[in-house]
Amino acid sequence: MTPFVRIQNIGEFIEQEVTIKGWLYNKRSSGKLRFLLVRDGSATIQCIVSKNDIPAEVFENCDLLTQESSIEVTGRVSRDERSPLGYEIQVSNLSIVQIAEEYPISKKEHGVDFLMDNRHLWLRSSQQHAILRIRHEVIRAAREFFDQRDFILVDSPIFTPNAAEGTSTLFETDYFDGKAYLTQSGQLYGEAAAMAFGRIYCFGPTFRAEKSKTRRHLTEFWMIEPEVAYFNLQDDMQLAEEFVAHLVQSVLKNRLPELKVLERDISKLENIKAPFPKIHYREAVAMIKKENPAFIDGDDFGAPDETIISEKFDRPVIVHHYPAAVKAFYMKRDPQEPEYALAMDMLAPEGYGEIIGGSQREDDYELLIGRIRDHGLPVENFQWYLDLRRYGSVPHAGFGLGIERTVTWICGIKHLREAIPFPRLMQRIYP
Ligand code: 4AD
Ligand code: MG
Repeated sequence: MTPFVRIQNIGEFIEQEVTIKGWLYNKRSSGKLRFLLVRDGSATIQCIVSKNDIPAEVFENCDLLTQESSIEVTGRVSRDERSPLGYEIQVSNLSIVQIAEEYPISKKEHGVDFLMDNRHLWLRSSQQHAILRIRHEVIRAAREFFDQRDFILVDSPIFTPNAAEGTSTLFETDYFDGKAYLTQSGQLYGEAAAMAFGRIYCFGPTFRAEKSKTRRHLTEFWMIEPEVAYFNLQDDMQLAEEFVAHLVQSVLKNRLPELKVLERDISKLENIKAPFPKIHYREAVAMIKKENPAFIDGDDFGAPDETIISEKFDRPVIVHHYPAAVKAFYMKRDPQEPEYALAMDMLAPEGYGEIIGGSQREDDYELLIGRIRDHGLPVENFQWYLDLRRYGSVPHAGFGLGIERTVTWICGIKHLREAIPFPRLMQRIYP
């Protein structure tokens, strides 16, 4: 029995006979030779079949192979400096697992709708493959970052009785005889967990009924949210910049070939080291007004406003002290200037916009219950959350980083829908 080898490890088997199991990506023939490009999910390798070296029926089988047919190939590994992988296989045997029907995705250009309808197959192409490997690295590095700093992962529920991020984007669902909402953020549960463990993070899917059809919004996206007891806004911003620098540097270190497939300008990512610039909302408004005089002081930023700010810097910029009026009920106000919240957003460069939203939380019982009422939220559903301010309340802060926004920026791609395996958008829930 020859060893079954993943293509990415094939360099360990030079001049040895191995078996690979995969799919036909492409093929070419020239006289008594057949060149099969085989991918197995880890990498792609050229397999050379020469008529004189193998049984006649095996050679004939090569001509039956269609794109994406599944095959097992046995042969001898040799160096091939011209190929991207650096190796090739001289085939001694080939068996067909299945002959694929005519594959709908060809080498020619397809429209986005067609590709999205075929997302389950599109994942196999090199560009999508590279993006999802980078996504994997971002998630791995994110968990590594918090794990190394003694944060405990505490999962938050998906079904919730209350809104965390405003009632306009809630997905409501039947829950036996009552109603539940799909979570918009794990934060409120993260705060409870931070009071139990000191420093925690949650990581999971979050849901928002976004009616906007922008390239920055999904209805289902993944968020990683640290929450830390005894942290203030300054501590929070520092954690966020170290975190994002770690994500980018990890992708550069571990996924350079994938960034090259995407033709990403690497120099733009190499800059991403802490500290990041930090500006007060007031300074940000002054920058915006020079280019967009119609902007009203006190408003939240639109995507074009974020672009105006982020274009001024070569690394992510943190804007802090947003007007409390445009931010969530749970944010603490600055005692020195109470019209501003102890809030921060991190904006990615190159026009990618907000990737992080965070804040120091209101820790005073009376102020918090007042905010819940002011926002028209049902106080009875927040009793458990208010308890956190009754039993040993402490200053605390945290943030949420959107995985797809971050991956989109790091990959340098245009639209969030390619940064998640199966995107959910206002008009898309298939496949
Ligand atoms: O700024 P947001 O709404 O903050 C929160 O949810 C806080 N509760 C987080 C916290 O403090 N623990 O969302 C955080 C991030 C955004 O910066 C963005 O990256 C991402 O989540 N995000 C979305 N990503 C894709 N599609 C959407 N519709 C998104 N909405 C937010
Ligand atoms: Mg936000």
